[in-house]
Amino acid sequence: MLRTLNDINPEGKRVLIRCDFNVPLKEGEIADDTRIKKALPTINELLEKGASVILMSHLGRPGGEKKAEFSLRPVSERLGELLEKDVKFCQQNAGPEASRMAQDLKRGEILLLENLRFNPGEKENDPVFAGELASLADCLVQDAFGTIHREHASMTGVPEHIPAYAGRLLEKEIKYLTRGLKPEEPLCVCLGGAKIETKIGVIENMLGKAASLLIGGGMCYTLLKADGRETGKSLLDNGYLQTAGNILAKAKDKDVELLLPVDHVAADSIDNPVKVIKTGGADVPEDLMGVDISERTIDNFRKKILSAKTIVLNGPMGVFENERFASGTKAVLEAVVEATKKGALSIAGGGDTVSAIKALGFKEEDFTHVSTGGGASLKFLEGKTLPGIRVLQD
Ligand code: 3PG
Repeated sequence: MLRTLNDINPEGKRVLIRCDFNVPLKEGEIADDTRIKKALPTINELLEKGASVILMSHLGRPGGEKKAEFSLRPVSERLGELLEKDVKFCQQNAGPEASRMAQDLKRGEILLLENLRFNPGEKENDPVFAGELASLADCLVQDAFGTIHREHASMTGVPEHIPAYAGRLLEKEIKYLTRGLKPEEPLCVCLGGAKIETKIGVIENMLGKAASLLIGGGMCYTLLKADGRETGKSLLDNGYLQTAGNILAKAKDKDVELLLPVDHVAADSIDNPVKVIKTGGADVPEDLMGVDISERTIDNFRKKILSAKTIVLNGPMGVFENERFASGTKAVLEAVVEATKKGALSIAGGGDTVSAIKALGFKEEDFTHVSTGGGASLKFLEGKTLPGIRVLQD
């Protein structure tokens, strides 16, 4: 059983909340504040119930050193605007200054600590660093779903010292992603994106659950090559050819419909395309690379999506950042939205999927659930108990 906010009375307590404020920055400005907004329900609930809150997060990968460009200060400002409250900012993430500022907090006040990854102890899951963080508060509320697969000090170390509970965002993520693992059938899993290695675990787990697996994006070319197709200059991960072959064989064995593209949009370059064609078949000409799925594939994928009761979507179908190569991703998103309107449950995840949803004019509300986790949502869909969740279970 997961311990949640329902299991504590935070009145008069100092509560440490681990958020995932790993937001994209552009020239020092927050380019997308979705993750900050998603943290608000937990923060507001605790404040309303009479707690004072100490927020902590990582931002980027500063490598255990203090680096100004990875400071969480812009997040404290944005958070203050969204909450319409003063958010105090501590330039340290632990130590005497953090302790003093935490001690001084009054009921209803908010403190944000500096980037946890400025301290090498965070990634090393150093028990001393975890102890320092824990000493700031009475309990931990874990709401950083995007980091839930990391065995870091703020994720699994702090709960060794103080009681820990899941926040509302984490609870919601677990609720919906679990419905992808224990789906109302038929389940359709649609995967794309460039890196096949990050999706292998999901494909293997879903081969036992999904009625259909649709695979597009850069990762499909390794599977097509393993299937004996010509892939031209398309993205290929030779190190995964054998694994890809095994997946195709397993799908046949288990009678799962694994659908690969049967036609593509192919180009001579992604950035400066001069020659762009529709292949008309599953092979990609020698001098070109696949950059999107084409009409017949779209049609096949659409049919499977529309006949599913549960849809898991992770990764774009092509290089959607270039509008000439965005049709496949757009059509698949349209089909998922249509299926959702007709009553199917749709769960979308992954950084690129979320970017595609926004860039191609869709809204989060068009889907049942859009996960804040990239790597975390994939690890979850592999069916493993993730370290940050394990420590919150009785
Ligand atoms: C993410 O953006 O996926 C999370 O914040 C985790 O970040 P990380 O991959 O650097 O651990």
